[in-house]
Amino acid sequence: MGQESSNNRRRFEGKVVFITGAARGQGREHAIRFASEGARIIGVDRCEDLPNTHYPLATEEDLAQTVKSVEAAGGAMHADVADVRDLDRLREVFVAGYEKFGRIDVVVANAGIYSPAPVRYATSEQWAETVDTNLTGVFNTVRVAVRRMIEQDQGGAIAITSSIAGLKGMYGSAAYNASKHGVVGFMRSLALELAPHQIRVNTVHPTSVGTPMINNETFPKLVRSDLENPTMDDVADFLRPQQPMNVAWLDASDIADAVLWLCSDEARYVTGVTLPVDGGALLR
Ligand SMILES: NC(=O)c1ccc[n+]([C@@H]2O[C@H](COP(=O)([O-])OP(=O)(O)OC[C@H]3O[C@@H](n4cnc5c(N)ncnc54)[C@H](O)[C@@H]3O)[C@@H](O)[C@H]2O)c1
Repeated sequence: MGQESSNNRRRFEGKVVFITGAARGQGREHAIRFASEGARIIGVDRCEDLPNTHYPLATEEDLAQTVKSVEAAGGAMHADVADVRDLDRLREVFVAGYEKFGRIDVVVANAGIYSPAPVRYATSEQWAETVDTNLTGVFNTVRVAVRRMIEQDQGGAIAITSSIAGLKGMYGSAAYNASKHGVVGFMRSLALELAPHQIRVNTVHPTSVGTPMINNETFPKLVRSDLENPTMDDVADFLRPQQPMNVAWLDASDIADAVLWLCSDEARYVTGVTLPVDGGALLR
C-alpha cells in the first residue's frame, strides 16, 4: 500500500530535504519518496567500508543510482560523499547543496551501522565507530543544518532514525543499543530547544528492515549460528516470531511512509515522539 497511497500527494512541494546515508536502503527510499512529493534533496553517504563493521557499506555507484532514481521521480538531488563523523566535510557538502537549492526544510538523520559485539569481547575501536556514527553523526547532521533552518524562520522537521533497539535491550550489541537510545535523549532535548521555532524533532524506531544492513553475508551467520550455511530464509524463521504481526522484516517503504508523515504538515504539532514502526515488536 505504502507508495501507492502517496503517489498523488505533493506534501513537500518547493521544500529541501537533507538526508544522510542516502546511497541505498532506507536513505535512498526516503530520497525518492520526498522527491516524488515535490522536494529537492541534499544527500550524503560515506560510500566506503568501515574497519569494524563486518558487512559492506554503500558505494559511490549506489549514491549515483539514488540520484538517478530521484531524477526519475521528477526531483533534483545534490549528492556527495561525506562521513557523518566528519563535521567539516559534512558541512561543506550540506552548504553546497543549500546554496544550490536556497533553503532547508527537513533533516533526515538516517545514516547508521550495526556492528554487534558482546561487551566482554568488544574493543574501544568498535565502540567508537558505532557511537561516533550513530550518535555523534546525528548531532553533526543536525548541527550543519539547524541554524539556517532557524534563520529561515518557516518552521521545519527533523526525523532521526533510531531502532527498536533505541527503546529496548538487544542482546550482543551494546554499542548499537546505547547509540540508538542516545539519539532519543538527543531528540527530546532538541525538540524542546526548537519548538519555539516551529521546528519539530522526532525519532523513528523500525524493527528489522530488508536492506543491506541485514541482507548480507554476515547477518545470517550471526543470528543463525546454529546452522552451517544459513540463508535469509533461515533468518526470516528467526525474526518472524519477534513481531506479533508475524512479519520477518519490513520494507524500506514502510519506514518512508512514517518519516514522510512525521515531516509533513499532517504532523504539524507532533514533536518529541518516539514512533515505532515495528509490527508490534515492542509489545513483547
Ligand atoms: N535494516 C534494519 O534492520 C534496521 C532496523 C532498525 C533501524 N535501522 C536503522 O536504519 C538506518 C538506515 O539503515 P538501512 O537499513 O538503510 O541500512 P543500510 O546499511 O542499507 O544503509 C545505511 C547507509 O548509511 C551509510 N553510512 C554508514 N555509516 C556512515 C557514515 N559514517 N557516514 C555516512 N554514511 C554512512 C551506509 O553507507 C549506507 O548507505 C540506520 O540508522 C539503521 O541503524 C535499520
